[in-house]
Amino acid sequence: MTDTTPAYTGPERVFSGIQPTGSLHLGNYLGALKKFVDLQDTHDCVFCVVDLHAITMPVEKGVLADQTRQIAAAFMACGIDPAKSVMYAQSSVPAHVELAWIFNCVARMGWVERMTQFKDKAGKDSERASVGLFTYPVLQAADILAYKATHVPVGEDQKQHLELSRDIADRFNREYDVPGFFPLPEPLIKGPGARIMSLKDGTKKMSKSDPSDLSRINLVDDSDTIARKIRKATTDAGVIPETAEELKGRPEVENLVGIFAALTGRGVESILGEFAGQGFGAFKPALADVTVAHLAPITARYRDILADPAEIDRTLARGAQQANAIAAPIMDDVRRVVGFWRP
Ligand code: AMP
Ligand code: TRP
Repeated sequence: MTDTTPAYTGPERVFSGIQPTGSLHLGNYLGALKKFVDLQDTHDCVFCVVDLHAITMPVEKGVLADQTRQIAAAFMACGIDPAKSVMYAQSSVPAHVELAWIFNCVARMGWVERMTQFKDKAGKDSERASVGLFTYPVLQAADILAYKATHVPVGEDQKQHLELSRDIADRFNREYDVPGFFPLPEPLIKGPGARIMSLKDGTKKMSKSDPSDLSRINLVDDSDTIARKIRKATTDAGVIPETAEELKGRPEVENLVGIFAALTGRGVESILGEFAGQGFGAFKPALADVTVAHLAPITARYRDILADPAEIDRTLARGAQQANAIAAPIMDDVRRVVGFWRP
């Protein structure tokens, strides 16, 4: 299809979000948080704890607010600086919900029905899933576009949701005849940490919801736990190969080498060069050292920040004001474009 509609020409902005459900792991860190931190020096950034998304699945009573503080603390422990980036809780800015409703009327059933995350999360009994779980990716599009964000750092698993966000932005622009009103947000996925796999099964992604804690390294794990989990990580009977080509078909080994590369910023080839021909008895302790060296300061900062919840609350409240100041004028324009009655 040739496309002659003018593109968005407004300023660049980065937006991303993480749900306050369960504790963060190395996959979240390498796939998302580490990229957030790298972007905040070069871009206007908005980082959101997406608590509205969290309630699409059952949440234990009374824990949501604390989990939101924990994710905010983890953001800051990883290096998000609230003086540089906007950081806040989604439910404290009304624009998300309002724009999500409008987008529910822009997105087509067929588009949303294709989303694989819904199928995974709803499981066999999708009749019993919440309606919110179904429209989850529409709310995600609203998160991004309420700030007219142009770039969205996420892990590989979010690729399909980002495509939907682009489709929704494009359809809104066309349907209301406002070319270039919303940007078509671009996912920032590339990099060695885009898809970190379970330590127990190299074909499954590392996930908060895996019943086995040995499958993931949590950002709050202490050094001994990290070393033990890496020691127990599934591998095969072979040795570390010489070339990246030979990692194909060995997903567990490829994953461990990939984690080493992502944490050190070194290329896979350089790591293979150092360890080729050696068994995992040599490689695993080296990987454990690298992981502990990287995570220990983050864990220490996390505990310090979490010790002062009132300060986290003040930071989130300031962030909500800043986020609202960006979104409110955009929402005024959206209401005008849709044609709602206005005083
Ligand atoms: P979630 O834990 O699903 O809320 O994900 C928060 C962010 O972490 C999203 O950008 C995900 O794409 C990213 N993420 C989650 N799991 C992984 C993983 N195993 N590897 C890389 N990125 C991940
Ligand atoms: N769906 C994302 C996840 O599960 C979280 C999310 C919600 C998000 N809104 C977003 C990510 C907006 C990027 C941009 O990880």
